[in-house]
Amino acid sequence: MLSSSSSFYSVLLVLLLCLHSSDAAAAKIGQGYRLVSIEETPDGGIVGLLQVKQKNQIYGSDITNLQIYVKHETEDRLRVHITDADKQRWEIPYNLLPREQPPAMKLTISKSRKDGGGSLQVSDYSSNEFIFSYTADPFSFMVKRKSNGDILFNSKSDKSDPFGEMVFKDQYIEISTKLPKDASLYGLGENTQPHGIKLYPNDPYTLYTTDVSAINLNTDLYGSHPVYMDLRNVGGQPNAHAVLLLNSNGMDVFYTGTSLTYKIIGGVLDFYFFAGPTPLAVVDQYTAFIGRPAPMPYWSLGFHQCRWGYHNLSVVEDVVANYQKAQIPLDVIWNDDDHMDGHKDFTLNPNNYPRPKLLAFLDKIHSMGMKYIVIIDPGIAVNSSYGVYQRAIANDVFIKYEGEPYLAQVWPGAVNFPDFLNPKTVQWWGDEIRRFHELVPVNGLWIDMNEASNFCSGLCKIPKGKQCPTGSGPGWVCCLDCKNITNTRWDDPPYKINASGTQVPIGFKTIATSAYHYNGVLEYDAHSLYGFSQSIATHQALQGLEGKRPFILSRSTFVGSGKYAAHWTGDNKGTWEDLKYSISTMLNFGIFGVPMVGSDICGFYPAPTEELCNRWIEVGAFYPFSRDHANFYSPRQELYQWESVAESARNALGMRYKLLPHLYTLNFEAHSTGAPIARPLFFTFSNYTDCYGLSTQFLLGSSIMVSPVLGAGENKC
Ligand SMILES: *[C@@H]1O[C@H](CO)[C@@H](O)[C@H](O)[C@H]1NC(C)=O
Ligand SMILES: *[C@@H]1O[C@H](CO)[C@@H](O)[C@H](O)[C@H]1NC(C)=O
Ligand SMILES: *[C@@H]1O[C@H](CO)[C@@H](O)[C@H](O)[C@H]1NC(C)=O
Ligand SMILES: *[C@@H]1O[C@H](CO)[C@@H](O)[C@H](O)[C@H]1NC(C)=O
Ligand SMILES: *[C@@H]1O[C@H](CO)[C@@H](O)[C@H](O)[C@H]1NC(C)=O
Repeated sequence: MLSSSSSFYSVLLVLLLCLHSSDAAAAKIGQGYRLVSIEETPDGGIVGLLQVKQKNQIYGSDITNLQIYVKHETEDRLRVHITDADKQRWEIPYNLLPREQPPAMKLTISKSRKDGGGSLQVSDYSSNEFIFSYTADPFSFMVKRKSNGDILFNSKSDKSDPFGEMVFKDQYIEISTKLPKDASLYGLGENTQPHGIKLYPNDPYTLYTTDVSAINLNTDLYGSHPVYMDLRNVGGQPNAHAVLLLNSNGMDVFYTGTSLTYKIIGGVLDFYFFAGPTPLAVVDQYTAFIGRPAPMPYWSLGFHQCRWGYHNLSVVEDVVANYQKAQIPLDVIWNDDDHMDGHKDFTLNPNNYPRPKLLAFLDKIHSMGMKYIVIIDPGIAVNSSYGVYQRAIANDVFIKYEGEPYLAQVWPGAVNFPDFLNPKTVQWWGDEIRRFHELVPVNGLWIDMNEASNFCSGLCKIPKGKQCPTGSGPGWVCCLDCKNITNTRWDDPPYKINASGTQVPIGFKTIATSAYHYNGVLEYDAHSLYGFSQSIATHQALQGLEGKRPFILSRSTFVGSGKYAAHWTGDNKGTWEDLKYSISTMLNFGIFGVPMVGSDICGFYPAPTEELCNRWIEVGAFYPFSRDHANFYSPRQELYQWESVAESARNALGMRYKLLPHLYTLNFEAHSTGAPIARPLFFTFSNYTDCYGLSTQFLLGSSIMVSPVLGAGENKC
């Protein structure tokens, strides 16, 4: 029965329109789907046809026919893929994240069903680890652990459940699972989690790459990782598994403590279940699928110093000399964008960073075994006398809007954004990096602002007869002439995710979501892949340049980014709370397959107190990626600025440097098995349930525990 009586449907609409947003998680939107056909596939999977039971217009019309494809891809990895049966939908490009393609099969309603009944059973579709089963009408599916029958995922909606049946519309997809109350969940980032590493019931989890600073709690930050690990202790036996929803569109995830609901604004349902049963086995299986973490060069495990506001080369030389004088180890010195000419990528400021002097400085530090890294942003300054821009235009590498390069604003003023989904862009980018490396022999690259961040929103023009940026005042105030775009269903989708924690339009301060990439791919779909695709292009460019392992630090990440890049947790605050939060975020990235991670030591802004900076280096010395970094507007906070901090740094970093061979072994283990370098305690003590929520201590490898002081006036001795 596919037609609906119009009165019923308007009642439903009115009901839904009356709901307040706080009730949004609980609204039941449709009647779900009915399985009408199922068969085995030649590759050993099963494929089924689903038909919508009753359409409505809430968030758009339901898709009539869906195809479900289920396969045990390995003994410990199960895939459940659901998409439109009649029309191809957006999926994460298979070249970006290599994986098996579902078979091209066209099902029709099975005879037995038409004949009124008949069994729709595919007997016991199981591997050694998982059993997949379903109910046909309304359709739901269940995944069980074979060894103990534990139900890991169950999308069946009962009357008492706070969620409804599966919904599948063009711009709104919803599916839920029941969860046992005592399951501990981790993941669903990137998110600063005030309640610690364990997911906290009714905290919002929104996934959409966004440049809002990491001081914003429970907000969609720079990266998108729609994966969670689920740890349960059933009768004294700890078991962990993970669930990945491989989807790049914006989504809200609602976790109630006894259920989890995904509300996604596009793409497909593509679930991967990883059987564990130990946390280490989970990350091994997960990274075997998404890509093993990049092996880091040994030097990158040393201590790093950075700051925005090293006005000229003399200041940088002075920092290096002061670290030596204070006898604090320093392996890598960084430049934020101070070295650039007018904030333009791949350039040098001729007055403050003259090339001959910089090269002499690099000769000197390189001969001491030190390294040098600089920042690059994706936005390419619109400037007809700038070679990088000229070659970009000649190669047609930018994201487009109505046939023209999409115009945005970042530090240099007006910019265009390279489209890293375009093979020509990847080639051009590689060539620019090669040219830059000839200009300045950097040892690694720091790719920032790649969510992508934009100081303006919508459709913009360069203002006539007005300087932009103005030259006075902060560079992040929009100075282009812009108007919001509200007349497309991409800029103004029917369902609003909780973007930036305030439900702003999804194109707010980023690329307009109706802009498009290579091959007509919409920014709406590919948005959260921007930093990931840039990491891949940057990695490809650096590989082979020095004949060494590339080192890349990326702010925006996605599923699979760890194969190419390290990560820092973005703009944090110099507060005790932020010191605490840094532990959870770091541990989460270990689970996301990005084990080379750390926070800005002593905080990015504002000024830390001496005591805080002192305690922070005692924690930060044990971050896998250990870097002090500060904002332009903060006072200097290098570790030698205070004698007490210098002394703590010598102690803590002294210990780190003694442990470097161990860290290097952990780096190797991470690369070969995905094992996080810094781990939650439950990775080793997984039958000690009291540590499941522990977010104030962590392990380096399996057996070194870091148990830091995290509060003012505290003393552990
Ligand atoms: C470098 O910058 C510092 C701080 O702004 C300034 O005091 C110094 O004079 C500058 N040195 C040179 C050589 O420009
Ligand atoms: C364009 O770049 C050149 C140098 O590459 C610089 O001198 C000039 O100021 C820039 N123009 C604008 C409008 O920013
Ligand atoms: C554009 O949209 C943003 C976000 O909703 C809003 O803050 C801003 O005022 C709008 N600008 C204009 C010119 O309407
Ligand atoms: C959106 O996120 C913010 C920040 O976490 C939260 O305070 C707010 O309640 C969320 N809004 C909705 C509608 O979920
Ligand atoms: C669980 O804890 C007990 C001690 O209570 C220990 O003997 C056992 O080895 C642990 N099991 C696992 C799987 O860690």
